[in-house]
This record gives sequence, structure tokens and C-alpha cells, in this order.
Amino acid sequence: MVICELLGVPYADRAVFQQNAATLVAMDSTAQEIAAANKNVADYLADLLRRKDREPKEDLLSELAVQRVRTGELSLEKAAGLGVILLIAGHETTTNMIGLSTLALLRDPAQRQGLLDAPDSAPMAVDELLRYLTIVHAGLRRIAVEDLEVAGVTIRAGDGIVLPIQSANRDPDTFADPDHLDLARGARNHLAFGYGIHQCLGQPLARAELQIALPALFTRFPDLRVAVPVDELPFKDDASVYGVRALPVTW
Ligand code: HEM
Repeated sequence: MVICELLGVPYADRAVFQQNAATLVAMDSTAQEIAAANKNVADYLADLLRRKDREPKEDLLSELAVQRVRTGELSLEKAAGLGVILLIAGHETTTNMIGLSTLALLRDPAQRQGLLDAPDSAPMAVDELLRYLTIVHAGLRRIAVEDLEVAGVTIRAGDGIVLPIQSANRDPDTFADPDHLDLARGARNHLAFGYGIHQCLGQPLARAELQIALPALFTRFPDLRVAVPVDELPFKDDASVYGVRALPVTW
């Protein structure tokens, strides 16, 4: 809902991007399936951009349509492509982070209470949840632009590289007792948003959503608990963005 409101995408149309996003993050999608899913969302957004051009509102897609596409600075296709990245990256990640963080905190009443007792600690707590859960858990992909050596291994220019940020976030040299969730550890130097010039553009928004949503949820429902045994929960082991498919709760 948040990313839809920011972009000016009607929330009622969410099936379009939720279904296609599932294909985009499924580890067994073929290149053709990924291209088709991308095109479905891009076509939907190109159409929306045309409507925004005719009837602009106060949202990001209207600004793109009026200030960039109408002026010829960006083609409609490029603008729709930007919209696809923001819409998919902006909902798939945060949604999964909220679900998994809720589960982690439901399983650890003492830390959950600590968060509620000290609302100012929410930013630090969210960084630890980002580190501990590292939902982008299939590694980041890059191509080496020059020969380099890492830990005695030579990587040649042109080689493909997978950078497992999920392992870096459990590096015992950086985070003591890394498999333990410790909301007070101060995990600001984690890599859950990537690193370098391509690190997550939406991280201030993602942080704000998590810092607001988690304390609000547990304040509103102090007796919230998982309604099924945890080992029966359906986890997204087959998707490049990790999460739970469903989290039945009761209170
Ligand atoms: C907890 C939530 C989020 C997590 C864990 C996350 C994680 C990441 C990671 C790991 C990357 C780097 C990918 C790479 O280097 O290959 C990335 C890039 C990106 N993210 Fe996020 N993200 C989150 C939320 C968001 C939101 C809310 C938005 C949009 C509003 C967003 C938009 C983007 C964009 C546009 C990029 C590409 C940046 C570039 O290539 O220059 N993300 N994200």
C-alpha cells in the first residue's frame, strides 16, 4: 500500500504486480518467463503513465509523466521500466521483511518487549532484523571489470561473481555470535541493502516502514501469537527474496 501510494498505482490493481513479482523472484523461472513478467508490469505501467499524463495527480508516476516523458527527456518505455523497478523492489522486499520480522519477534518475547519499552531503539532493532534475516538471500550478481584477487583466488575480468551478503551478515569477525538475534547489538554496518553505488535506493523508506509497522503491530495486539507450529509455516525457500508465504496469527 505504501509503495502504491507513493507511485500513484491503484492498490486495487495489486494482482498485476504481486503475481508477476512472484515470477520475477522465483528461482526456477526461465529467462522467457522473467521477460514476460517484466513486460506485463511494464505494459501496465506504460498505460498508467499515459493516464497520468492526461490527468496528473500528486504522485511519482505523474511527475515522471509530466516532467520527464512529456518533455522528451525519457521515453515512455524507460519511464515504465523505472516504475517496474520501484514497484517490484518496493513491495516484495518490505512485505517479506515485515512478515519475517514479525515472526522473529513473536518467537522472542523478551526482545519484543525491549523494543516496546524503548521506542527510540527501533532504528537499531530494525538494522539487526535486516542483518539477521537478510531476505535478499541468493547473493548479489556482478561481472568483474578487471582482474582481481580475493583470498588467494584470481577472478578474471569478465567473470560472473555471486556475492553472498547473507554470509557476510553472519560473519563472526564482524558480528559476535552472529546466529543470535540481538536487537541491541548495533548492526548498522550490515550489507542487507547491498554495498556501493547500487546499494538500495529505497532504504530510508524501508527503514521507516519497519520502524513504524513493527512497534505499531505489537502495541495494537500485545497478545499476538503464531497460530500454527512454526515448522508448519510455508517459507519461501524457492524465491530469491526470502519470507513466509503466510503467517497465521491469533490474539
Ligand atoms: C527491507 C526492504 C529492502 C531490502 C532488504 C532491499 C534490498 C536491496 C538490495 C540488497 C539491493 C542491491 C541489489 C544489488 O546490488 O544487486 C537493492 C537495490 C535496490 N532497491 Fe531495495 N531493498 C528494500 C526495499 C526497497 C524499497 C522500499 C525500494 C523502493 C522504494 C527499493 C528499491 C531499490 C532499487 C531501485 C534498487 C536498485 C538500486 C541500483 O541498482 O542502483 N528497495 N535493494
